[in-house]
Formats: sequence, C-alpha cells, structure tokens
Amino acid sequence: MTEGASYAETQGLSFLAEVIEQLPHPMFVKDRQFRYVLVNSALVRIGGHPAEAILGKTDYDFLPKETADFYRAKDSEVFASGAEVTIADEVLTDSEGEHRILSTRKVPLRGRTGEITHLIGVISDITRVKAVEEDLRVSTELLERRVVERTQALALAQDDLVRKERLSVLGQLAGGVAHQVRNPLGAIKNAAYVLQRRVREAEPPPFVEPLARDEVTQAIEIIHDEVQRANQIITDLLDYARIRVPVRRPTSIGSLVDQALDGQMLPPTVSVVRRLPELPSVAVDGDQLRGALYNIIRNAIEAMNDGGTLTIDADLRDGSMIVRIADTGEGIPSDVRSRLFEPLVTTKPLGLGLGLVTARTLIEGQGGAITLVEQEGPGACFEISLPLTPAA
Ligand SMILES: Nc1ncnc2c1ncn2[C@@H]1O[C@H](COP(=O)(O)OP(=O)(O)OP(=O)(O)O)[C@@H](O)[C@H]1O
Ligand SMILES: [Mg+2]
Repeated sequence: MTEGASYAETQGLSFLAEVIEQLPHPMFVKDRQFRYVLVNSALVRIGGHPAEAILGKTDYDFLPKETADFYRAKDSEVFASGAEVTIADEVLTDSEGEHRILSTRKVPLRGRTGEITHLIGVISDITRVKAVEEDLRVSTELLERRVVERTQALALAQDDLVRKERLSVLGQLAGGVAHQVRNPLGAIKNAAYVLQRRVREAEPPPFVEPLARDEVTQAIEIIHDEVQRANQIITDLLDYARIRVPVRRPTSIGSLVDQALDGQMLPPTVSVVRRLPELPSVAVDGDQLRGALYNIIRNAIEAMNDGGTLTIDADLRDGSMIVRIADTGEGIPSDVRSRLFEPLVTTKPLGLGLGLVTARTLIEGQGGAITLVEQEGPGACFEISLPLTPAA
C-alpha cells in the first residue's frame, strides 16, 4: 500500500486511492478545506514532493504564494460552480529538471446527497502533443512559404516566357523590315557617292551654278550622315532580331571594354575612367558581350550631353565577375525606370528603345545578369555579372 493510500484510509477514501494509484495520470483529491487528501505515485514523480509533504496540506504549505493563489482560485471555482475547470498549458519543471507542459482538469466529487465533498484533479502531460503541434506548425509554415515562393517563381517564369515570346515576334518583324530597308539605303548611299564625285570632278559643275556648289556638297553630306544614322538603326534592329546561340570562350573583359569604347563617338566633354585591373577571364561570347557593353556605354554617353565622367570598373564577387558602367549624366527618367529593359521604351527622339533589352538578352543568354544599381551622386550605374571561366 502506498503512503497516499494509507493516509486515504484514515479519510475513508481507500477504494478511490487504490483506483487512482493504478492510473498512469498524475492525480490528486482535495477536500473542501483545499487540503490534499489523496495523491498517486505519478503525481509524486512529476511534482517532486513526497506524499507525506503534501497530504493533509494545502498548496500554501509547499508552493510559492502566487502559484498557490492561482490554484486556490481554480479550486474555489470548482466548489462554487460544481462544474469542471481546466488549467491548460501549464509549464512545469519536473523533479528531473525537464520542462513539461501540463493540462489539469479539476472535477467535483459529490457525496451521497449530491453535495460536493471533494475535487479530483487529473493531470495530463501534453509536452509531446505540444511538441508535435509545434513541429506541425513549423512544417505548415515552411510549406506555405514554399508554396508562395514557388508561385512567385512560376509567375516570374510565366512573365519571362511571355516577354520572350513578344520579343521574338517583334524581333522577327523588325529584322524583316530592317533587312528590306537596308537595300534602298544602300542605293541612296551609292547615288550620293556618285553625285559627290561628279560635283568634285566637274569644273565648273555642269548642272549647278558655281555658288550653289557648296550647297549641293552640303546636301550630299547630309544624305551621307543620315544614311549612316539609318544604317545604325538597322544594325541595332538586326542585332536585336538575330540573337544567335552564344559561343562562350575564355575572354578578357578589359579588351572587350576597350573595343566597345573604340566604336563610340566620345564628345570632348566626357572623360573616361577605366579601372580594370588584371582579372581572370570570363566565359562569354566575345561578339555578343561587346555588343551589350557597346549599347550600355552608348546610353551613358548619350546621357552626358553636358559632359561628365564615364567610369568602368570590375571586380570579383561570389564567383562571378562584376562589371560596373557608371555615368554622371541626367539619370534614368523616373517614368521608364520600371520598364527599362522592355523593348521600345525610349525617351530619345531618335531612339528605338532596343539598346537595353538587346544588352539584357545577350547577357542573360550567357548566364550573366544586368541590373540598374543605386549610386551616390547624379547619373546611372549598371552592374553586369558574368560567369568566370572555370579553372582548368
Ligand atoms: N545611362 C543612362 N542614363 C540615363 N538614362 C538612360 C541610361 N540608359 C538608358 N536610359 C534610359 O533608358 C531608355 C532606354 O534605353 P535603350 O538603350 O533601351 O533605348 P534608347 O537608348 O532610347 O534607344 P536605342 O535603341 O537607340 O538604344 C533610354 O531612352 C533612356 O531614357
Ligand atoms: Mg540606347
């Protein structure tokens, strides 16, 4: 017989004592004076107080006052209402120092005439249930986050697909038109050349007054310049339309930048700072990357009509080469910022709005990326990341 049961004997509760002793849940019985009259071994184990320290005592005899106040209020509620009262999610450190989460149900025990003589407390250890609940909550959260991420990735992929589809149709159309326009332009250029030669050779010119000769020469020069410009537009369109599969080879970024700079009409008011130290080679299609750099540099120069500085530098970050092209020009107009890499977005009277979209397509085609980044001071800065040549 346990100590609990022998004490219970004196209280006339021995049968109940034997019953609760057999049950795995920690249990206790209190009388109307809130004294423990019965406790089972499971309660002694979890509470850490021996049965003789509890029996015949109230919570105030062995618990901190605040805790005892709390239990007293709950016990009083059971006696007053005659209904079950639950203390949910109570955290307790057991006799072995383990943190446990308990849920205690207190139910009234009635005598023969129906009056409440005692209350019975049944404690459930819900530590594991809570742990499983927490695990479940964490996995559900993780799952929900994954679903959101995947949905976003899918939406992006969808956007990308739509964009590529539109670009491809636009590219084919533009390419076709450009090709057709190039032939008449060639003819105009030849005709202008013939006229120019005849004007130079004829002394005096057969078909113009001597005074008008300068005017004719000037007009022919204008034809030349405009044909040249129209040709540049066509080259841009064809570049855009005819993006081929890149052939990636180890390439020096320094020499590509130099070549892209070489082809530019650099006004004397624009100075160039080139900071390209000895860097490993990048795995890119040289022709395509040169084209992309050319477009970005051309934009930078076009943005510095009133002069400024074009800075090109590069370094290594996270296993990629980062090339920055920055200018001190007028900055990206706010209304094109969000559509910067879309085709036909331009703020220039003679722009096509294909420079950046072509650059981006070319760069992404070889596993790189281009972004507009914030910089201090005026102007714009584009950052291009490129894959390095794998070490041999
Ligand atoms: N460095 C820059 N500084 C300021 N604005 C820029 C810069 N680069 C691009 N932009 C803005 O982005 C727009 C789109 O540039 P993008 O190169 O695609 O087309 P574009 O230069 O207008 O025409 P093109 O097809 O001849 O290149 C430009 O019209 C300009 O408003
Ligand atoms: Mg441009």
